[in-house]
Amino acid sequence: MSSLHSDPILQFQLWFSEAKKIKSLQYPHAMTVSTVGVDGVPDSRILLLKEVDDRGFMFFTNKDSQKGLQLAKHPFAALLFFWEPLGYQVRIQGRVEEVSDAESDAYFATRPRLSQIGSWASEQSRLLPDRAIFEQKAESFEVQFSGQDIPRPSYWGGYRVIPQKMEFWIERPFRWHDRFEFTRTDNASWSVRRLYP
Ligand SMILES: Cc1cc2nc3c(=O)[nH]c(=O)nc-3n(C[C@H](O)[C@H](O)[C@H](O)COP(=O)(O)O)c2cc1C
Repeated sequence: MSSLHSDPILQFQLWFSEAKKIKSLQYPHAMTVSTVGVDGVPDSRILLLKEVDDRGFMFFTNKDSQKGLQLAKHPFAALLFFWEPLGYQVRIQGRVEEVSDAESDAYFATRPRLSQIGSWASEQSRLLPDRAIFEQKAESFEVQFSGQDIPRPSYWGGYRVIPQKMEFWIERPFRWHDRFEFTRTDNASWSVRRLYP
């Protein structure tokens, strides 16, 4: 139907590796992650894509954050990538699962020490009356963990979005864009259709 790969995850990986080669793109792995608010109102923020494979799209965060509470109530998300220099947009929708403790531990261990300290000190999305409080908490965790590896806080970890639908948008002159929407038909296969721009 198109020059796209018949497996949309492989197609995503092709575009993603093109995006990663573009020097002017500081965050090719930045994606808008939309969730459903506990009140039903949509909510979005940028997160970093840490891994993509057959199982889905993985990101890490604080599970007690606003998004964490939203995902606990409505375990679905939409991801959005726009790589402007390439003229490519990718939209993804799917169910969200928590990744295993082992995967979260493995990634946490690779993070810079100060990022690890930040995860302990930040009550992400909750009221911070004064920045000094956060900095003091960080200093006390630095003392607490000095001279040892920093363990992963139990509330910090990964989520995986298991794609159910993926749309690839290719910019064309005069807004005669190309759009291809993939829908998962079963675990191993996808149907694809072209959409009007
Ligand atoms: C470029 C960029 C990358 C970010 N990456 C992450 C990330 O990987 N994990 C994360 O928890 N927050 C990340 N953030 C911060 C989030 O956008 C957001 O402020 C935070 O997760 C709190 O969101 P929430 O209140 O909806 O839970 C990033 C922000 C930007 C601008």
